[in-house]
Amino acid sequence: MTKDEKYKALFPQIESLVSGEQDMIAKMANVAAALHEAFGFWWTGFYRVEGEKLVLGPFQGPIACTRIPFGRGVCGTAWKQAQTIIVPNVHEFAGHIACSTASNSEIVVPIFRNKQIIAVLDIDSVDYGTFDETDKQWLEKITQII
Ligand code: SME
Repeated sequence: MTKDEKYKALFPQIESLVSGEQDMIAKMANVAAALHEAFGFWWTGFYRVEGEKLVLGPFQGPIACTRIPFGRGVCGTAWKQAQTIIVPNVHEFAGHIACSTASNSEIVVPIFRNKQIIAVLDIDSVDYGTFDETDKQWLEKITQII
């Protein structure tokens, strides 16, 4: 199965997981689990905007840092730039926050509600160059429906 086919199969499952549920934490928890299980990522989770910081939300994988300031790390940069960031090699990203030394590539997708960023979806991989335009397109589509 190609990556695109995997996302295509997973998308309706995620749609049904989140439909009818209003609680964002509950939805984030199931979406993190669904993505993590389907792709076998190293770390899959959410950080929620709380004032000037991102605060750790539902995730799957090893323990992670709990607070990330605006503009810091890949997550804080995606928040500041208000766009998805794909990092093929995290060791070359200035200011990358290494929650785990096993992580080598990363994608961070901001989640918008009423044109405001309310959270980010962060996914880490132990492989280099795991994430590309296919991930970006599908993950942005997923963040729009949760
Ligand atoms: N690497 C992220 C921090 C979060 S952990 O990867 C879970 C960053 O640089 O923002």
